[in-house]
Amino acid sequence: MRGQARLDTYALRLKSFCSVPRSATVVRGSALSTEWPDRSFDAIITDPPYYDSRSYSNLSDHFYVWHKRSVGHLYSSDFAAQLTPKKTEAIAASYRHDGNRKAADVFYEGAMQKAFAEAHRLLKPGAPMVCVYAHKTTAGWTTLINAMRAAGFAVVEAWPIEMERKARQNALETAALASSILLVVRRREETETGSYERAVRPELENYSPRACRNSLVFRRSRSGLGDRNGWSGVEGVHQIWKGRV
Ligand SMILES: C[S@@+](CC[C@H](N)C(=O)[O-])C[C@H]1O[C@@H](n2cnc3c(N)ncnc32)[C@H](O)[C@@H]1O
Repeated sequence: MRGQARLDTYALRLKSFCSVPRSATVVRGSALSTEWPDRSFDAIITDPPYYDSRSYSNLSDHFYVWHKRSVGHLYSSDFAAQLTPKKTEAIAASYRHDGNRKAADVFYEGAMQKAFAEAHRLLKPGAPMVCVYAHKTTAGWTTLINAMRAAGFAVVEAWPIEMERKARQNALETAALASSILLVVRRREETETGSYERAVRPELENYSPRACRNSLVFRRSRSGLGDRNGWSGVEGVHQIWKGRV
């Protein structure tokens, strides 16, 4: 009965999509490079791979082989390969780099930067990119934000939302959180880069001198967040808020 109710919900959703007046085109391909012209997109909404949380293509292979056998002849170009593509998959999987964790991180950040640079090329001036992301380590977040910044984006808004079903999350014990964050980013038009020492730090010292002094050392995170060594890697803001609370 629960299965029937779920099917009914999906059918209802599909019906509501049918009432959308304009049709959509679905294209399968890598986000690292596309053939659309420069500055031709009004917005980009993306749910990129979550760092080291999943090996999406390995999971897909399980279904791919059956889809290939059943409907492969209808979509021959999509099912030409034996298995799903792996080389350009943007994940931080050390088993794909001879167990080298650092190399996996570098690969992920490079791939994400390439995908974001492509998004940057495609967006019209002033147009937003919305990125859904979730990861419980600061390493996961730092890598994503670094890739965005290197591609020429600035984060302008962040909206936390409850997304994953809790039962599913507990069952899988993954690195993903029950809540995700919608990051809204825009092209950074200025090329000048700021200086922490000359611009940010003097302003912070005006704001709270004592808390700033406390912030100059790395500390173990007490929030439960942190990379594999237990270090939060968050130097400033984290400590300032601690000082103020
Ligand atoms: C967080 S999942 C998105 C899931 C999607 N929102 C859904 O509900 O099915 C990230 C997706 O990015 C895909 N991906 C990984 N590398 C990619 C690449 N280079 N180009 C395009 N997609 C890629 C993965 O296969 C995975 O499906």
